[in-house]
Amino acid sequence: MKIFLDTPDLSIVEQWLPQGIVDGVTTNPTLLRKSGIEDVMGAVSALARRIAPRDLSVQVSGTSHDEMVEQARRYTEIGDNIVIKVPVISPDGEPNLDVMTTLHGLGIPVNATACLNTAQVLAAAKTGARYASLLWGRVGDEGGSPETLVADITDLLRRHHFATQLLIGSMRSPADITRALTAGADAVTVPPPLLRRWLDHQYSRATVREFQIDAGVKDA
Ligand code: E4P
Repeated sequence: MKIFLDTPDLSIVEQWLPQGIVDGVTTNPTLLRKSGIEDVMGAVSALARRIAPRDLSVQVSGTSHDEMVEQARRYTEIGDNIVIKVPVISPDGEPNLDVMTTLHGLGIPVNATACLNTAQVLAAAKTGARYASLLWGRVGDEGGSPETLVADITDLLRRHHFATQLLIGSMRSPADITRALTAGADAVTVPPPLLRRWLDHQYSRATVREFQIDAGVKDA
C-alpha cells in the first residue's frame, strides 16, 4: 500500500517526510498553477531530489505525441525517480496510449492520468504503465460508484497479471482514503491537509490529554 502526497509544495512535503508514511509525490498542472510556481523545472528538480528514491509524478501538457514525448524526455533528465503523467485521452477523446507506449519503450515510467473508467485503466495497463490514476471524486461527481469501480478494476488487473498499480486520486474526504484502500487500491494520492484529517480523531486527542494530565504534564 502506497501513500503519495498530491502537492507540488516542497515545504509541505518536507513536513511529512519524517513521519515515514510517504511513498512519493504527485503533481498536475492545476496544482502547480494554484501553488503559484512559475519555474516548474526548478520546482520539480528540487522536489525530485528531496524525495528520491521515491517516485515523483509530473504531468506532460503537450498536445501532440511528439510534444509530450519531448517534454517527458526533458523531465526524466532531472532524475531517475520521475514518473511521467500522461492524460489517458485528449480533450477531443483521442487516446494518448501511443505516447504511453513510446515512453514505455524508452524505459520511462508512466502514470496514466484522468482515468474515469475500467477501459481506460486496462488500456493503460496494456501499454505497460507503472500507475493508472483513477479519479475517485470525479467518478462520484458523474454518479458512478468509485468503490465498486476500484474493486472491479483491481480484480481485473490481478486476474490478468498486470504489474500496473491502481493509484487513486481526487480524494475529497478522509473516508475516501480508507474506502479506496479497503476497495483494493494499490496507492492513494492525498492532499496534505486531508492526510492530517485522516489521522486525526477528537477522542484520541481527549485520551492523550487525559494521559498527560495523569502524568502530571504541565499545561495539558
Ligand atoms: C489528480 O491529478 C488529482 O488527484 C486532482 O487533484 C483531482 O482532484 P479533484 O477532482 O478533487 O479536483
